[in-house]
Amino acid sequence: MKKIAVFTSGGDSPGMNACIRAVVRAACHYNIEVVGIRRGYKGMINDDFVPMNAKSVSYILHKGGTILGSARSDEFRTAAGRKKAYTNLKKHGIEGIVAIGGDGTFTGAHVFMQEYPDIAIVGTPGTIDNDLFGTDFTIGYDTAINTAMEAIDKIKDTADSHDRLFFVEVMGRDVGFIATRAGIAAGAKAILIPESKTNIDELVNLLLDNAAKKKMSNIVVVAEGDDEGGAMDIAKKVKAKTNIFDIRVTILGHMQRGGSPSCMDRVLASRVGVAAVTALKEGKKGIMLGQTHRSISETPFEKAIKHNQKMSAELEVLAKILAY
Ligand code: F6P
Repeated sequence: MKKIAVFTSGGDSPGMNACIRAVVRAACHYNIEVVGIRRGYKGMINDDFVPMNAKSVSYILHKGGTILGSARSDEFRTAAGRKKAYTNLKKHGIEGIVAIGGDGTFTGAHVFMQEYPDIAIVGTPGTIDNDLFGTDFTIGYDTAINTAMEAIDKIKDTADSHDRLFFVEVMGRDVGFIATRAGIAAGAKAILIPESKTNIDELVNLLLDNAAKKKMSNIVVVAEGDDEGGAMDIAKKVKAKTNIFDIRVTILGHMQRGGSPSCMDRVLASRVGVAAVTALKEGKKGIMLGQTHRSISETPFEKAIKHNQKMSAELEVLAKILAY
């Protein structure tokens, strides 16, 4: 393999830069030419390619976001868009690609490779949501749960001081991985996630039990994709059933995607970045490089993306046991 490209796509996540750096430096190590594609599939279609070398990725390891930019491309969902992308890749002599992203990124890569099998694509899991199968954790998840946990800790201080009930909404699209770990770590009274049906009556009873113990201040963590709605909806539903709580709602939002990556995210990103280039060099394609039980693992794109990553039942039980 003589020339490869790297891009980041979908929602950015802390550690993407560490992964770009690892890909570029591994390519240099193997004497493979490397270019960056700006703004994911958009840049592939618009011919936005930049040459990269070991020096161009200096001093980015600790930075949040992605130096290559990211986007969600509707045009790449069309056959015409993918044809434009292919033409540009061929023009630049690209033989292999490392795609850093999540579900949408790998879905696009899978479709593209079926149409244009002469371009090898491998992926690394870059998303705060942790919703990919074939890796214990995704790049950015650790930083995001720490960001959420620290924010909830702060909310807890004011909740306690004012005897208030807070509903805190965290990201995660249609999964509850961020909510579960951040909620456990911050001692939430309840954690509402899409994976388990939310019962408003049960939640109200739990809160009333606490009120009977003279505990009015509580934190309920709500995953944005919960089946009963976001934090605002759930707060309204609780208020409609009992008016004894002084309720506030906080939506953490995009702050969960930013910030300097944690040590775990930097190391994970570095490992899978190097593994991705090694895989391309060995002629592999159509796989995501992840980390499973401390070792590098390979998972076909179709398997990584189909919601095969399951919530741990043990963590759900644990959260209930520990809430008082
Ligand atoms: O996939 C990452 C994520 O941050 C999700 O948690 C969230 O639902 C979504 O992206 C938000 O996307 P956007 O930044 O396009 O609004």
